[in-house]
Amino acid sequence: MLLRHVERESRTLSLFKLAVLISGSGSNLQAVIDAVSNGTIPNAKVELVISSRSGVFGLERAKKHGISNMVIDRKDPEKLSKTLEEYDIEGIVLAGYLSIIPPDVVKAYSGKIVNIHPALLPMFGGKGFYGIRVHQAVLTAGVKYTGATAHLADREYDTGDVLVRSVVPVLADDTAETLQKRVLKVEYKTLVRAVKALAENRIEELVKKPVTIINDEDKEGVMEFAKGLVELGKTLTEADNGD
Ligand code: GRF
Repeated sequence: MLLRHVERESRTLSLFKLAVLISGSGSNLQAVIDAVSNGTIPNAKVELVISSRSGVFGLERAKKHGISNMVIDRKDPEKLSKTLEEYDIEGIVLAGYLSIIPPDVVKAYSGKIVNIHPALLPMFGGKGFYGIRVHQAVLTAGVKYTGATAHLADREYDTGDVLVRSVVPVLADDTAETLQKRVLKVEYKTLVRAVKALAENRIEELVKKPVTIINDEDKEGVMEFAKGLVELGKTLTEADNGD
């Protein structure tokens, strides 16, 4: 009995402590919470949720799961670094966080901040490319494929090393809204894959060989695109079976 208790304690102690930063509905946060609780990311714990805005649904999700949560104004970078330290945070997940990370946090967590972006970076990224605007820009450009990218955050917007990409075809009758919906669906597994690597200390592997997830939706057409990536020396995970 005592032994079991000790084992459980030591397992808890060794869990990789994540802070998830949000600004909105928190569906990506939910994907991370689910992946931690269903064993997809077995060695991590969502220790803290920080929102840059009050009254957002993501905070309700944190409360529902008994996760410590708070609002920290984006204009208060000191509070952000102090809080991360206070909670012994080891890795940061930016899940729809609409603000740039202060330089001292980027420095302190170098290689340990994962962001999810709703396009195939480096296309359609950078300042001003957020929310529905990203998908409007994709449609205006007339590209055939878009998707989601999990990448390391650095001091700029969307310029850090790419870790995982998911490809989504742009359909002839797509509107920015339909595209946003389909991209959001693949963001979850894209982010979870990168966060798993973060918790398992395997980020460097992904930096060297970013993974591309091809979704079942348009396997054939997308293979053409995938071949191009392979030629560029990228690692390709051909089928995504929901892992
Ligand atoms: C996602 O599209 C994310 O890529 C973007 O903001 C959205 C956040 O959605 N940066 P949610 O709050 O995770 O539901």
